This record gives sequence, C-alpha cells and structure tokens, in this order.
Amino acid sequence: MNQTVDWERQATEALKRIARRQDLKAHVERTPALNGLLSRAAARYVAGASRKDGIEAGRRLLAQEYAISLEYIGENTTDAEACMAAAEEMAALIAELGELGAAARASFDLSHIGLAVDDELAFAQLLRLSRQARETGIEPFVSMEESAKTDRILAVYKRAAAEEPGIGITLQAYLNRTPGDLAGLAGIGGPVRLVKGAYEEPREAAIGRSAALNERYLSLVESALAQGRRVSVATHDEALIEAIVSRGWARHRLEFELLYGIRPDLAGKLKASGYPVRVYAIYGEEWYLYLCHRLAEFPPNLYRAIADIAGGAAADPMSEYA
Ligand code: FDA
Repeated sequence: MNQTVDWERQATEALKRIARRQDLKAHVERTPALNGLLSRAAARYVAGASRKDGIEAGRRLLAQEYAISLEYIGENTTDAEACMAAAEEMAALIAELGELGAAARASFDLSHIGLAVDDELAFAQLLRLSRQARETGIEPFVSMEESAKTDRILAVYKRAAAEEPGIGITLQAYLNRTPGDLAGLAGIGGPVRLVKGAYEEPREAAIGRSAALNERYLSLVESALAQGRRVSVATHDEALIEAIVSRGWARHRLEFELLYGIRPDLAGKLKASGYPVRVYAIYGEEWYLYLCHRLAEFPPNLYRAIADIAGGAAADPMSEYA
C-alpha cells in the first residue's frame, strides 16, 4: 500500500474522532492561547465570529455573482435556553439576509435549535424560522447530522415541510438508507442538497469515498431531478462534478454549492461556464467540529493549517473569490 495514502486515511479517521471529543472542544474553548492559534486555521473556512462578519462575507460573494448560504454554526445544544438563543440569532440572520436580496439561503442544524432537547422544540423552531424566511424571501435549509439522528431529523423536516413546503433538506449519499429516504420524500417539500457525508459512521450504515459512492451520488441527483426538485450538488469532487455536467441535466434546477474557503478556483470555473454556483459560509464561535471536518476531508489541509497558525496574519479566503 502507498504509505502516504495510508497516513492520510489514518489522519482522516483520527480527525473525525477528535471532532467528536467534547472534552477536547471544551479545552480549546477555555484556553485562550490555544483557541487563538486554532482560530487562525479556522479563519480559512469561517467567515468570522459575528453575524456582521457573516453578512459581510455574503455581501462580497453576492457582489461576485455567487448565490450564498449562511449558517450560524453550532450543533448538539442540550440547553433549551441556548437553543432559543440560537434560534433568535438565526431569526436576526434571516432578517438581515432579506435586506441583502435574492439568492440567499439560511442553513442550520436541527440539533442547534432544539433536537438535542426535544423533537417538539426543534419542530416549533424550524416552523417559526421557515415562516419568517418565506415572508422575507429567504430559503430555509436543514443540514444533515450523524445517522443516529437521521430518522428524527427527517420526521421533524417532513412535519414542517407539510406546512412550509419551501424548506430544503440535505441528504448524505454515503448512507445506505439515503436512496430510500429520498424516495420517501416524494411529494413533500422543496429543494434537496446532496452531500457525500462528513461524519464517522458505523461500517454497516455507510460506504466510504469510492467509485461506488460517486455512482450512488449521481443516481441520487437523477432521482431528485426526476421528482421535480431543485438540486444543490454540494461537493468539491471535480471528477464527480464533471460527470454531472456531462449528463447535460436541466441547468435551471441544478446548482453547484461549495463551502467557503474550499476550491474557490473550482467555484470560479463553474460560474464562468454558466452554472449557478452557491458558496456556503459559516460564522460564529462554535467552529471546532467544522474545522476538524474540513481538515479530515483533505489531510493536506493540515499543512495549510500549520502554515496559517505559524504565519501570524489570519487567512483571507475572500480574496480568492475576486
Ligand atoms: P471528497 O471528500 O470526496 O473529496 C474529493 C476532492 O474534493 C478532494 O480530493 C479535494 O480535491 C476536494 N476536497 C474535498 N474536501 C476538501 C477540503 N476540506 N479542502 C480542500 N479540498 C477538499 N456534510 C454532512 O454530513 N451534512 C451536511 O449537512 C453537510 N452540508 C454541506 C453543505 C455544503 C454546501 C457542502 C459543500 C458540504 C456539506 N457537507 C455536509 C460536507 C460533505 O458531506 C463532505 O464531507 C464534504 O463536502 C467533502 O466531500 P466532497 O464531496 O466535497 O469531496
């Protein structure tokens, strides 16, 4: 086996485990020196700590003719008051996104606004935010979390989408259950975002990065389009993107969606070729898990993180979208 590839696989698995370590997260958060250092690496993927930073990033991306998604980052919030506070922040975000105008999407994890406390709380908050989003001209979008939560996320989503059909949902191609989950959404709800999946999952639940995963991803895009949905192809996998482009599927129902700070060159190339491209930016203080995932997905990012930490000045990914 190629030794470098093996190290990269081990680094990916280790980073996914580190991502789930609440004790390490707490340690980083209460140690200002460590937090300060790691936040320099996070700056490559996070628009900033405040809503103002997120909105400013969104404004600059819109000026470059990208559609945007914004997320106030956080998940697994187990305190009901903290869930309410997070939902208040999202309501303020939706109001400000409304002022920015079209092509803006507000994304969130249901476990940030109630699912870790009680499904009813998550449902009530999702419905409230989605009503506000519709009235403001913003698209509300539910992210997908670990497979242990998939049933509950889909159940809350389906109930809310029955009342607010414009809500979008993210589905993970790596889960074996997803083709069935997509079929189960027939007649319900709005757009679908297809991702490969970011979490460490039990072997029986998911497949790893592979040709089989890309094949499944392609067939999910096809099935979602056949259901009449708009589809966000949310991947940075250039070969997969090329395969999708080569199918010649309807452009008005297909967009590419990339994470802020990742492959801005690819975002620019797709935009130049006439495809709608959306950039997904996050803001907030809870970037620990997000940073771990971005490093785990592409271990060479570890070298970049070391350079960012050692380099002094924070990275400025926005300059790469100009
Ligand atoms: P994949 O991991 O197969 O890698 C293919 C190539 O893409 C790599 O060789 C590299 O060139 C490039 N690449 C991928 N990741 C990179 C990185 N971090 N840095 C640099 N290059 C990289 N997941 C989830 O479980 N729930 C969710 O709700 C979401 N939401 C979401 C929204 C959007 C808009 C995107 C783009 C992604 C998500 N994800 C997600 C994350 C997703 O599941 C997945 O983990 C990442 O997109 C990485 O997988 P890819 O398909 O991009 O490429």
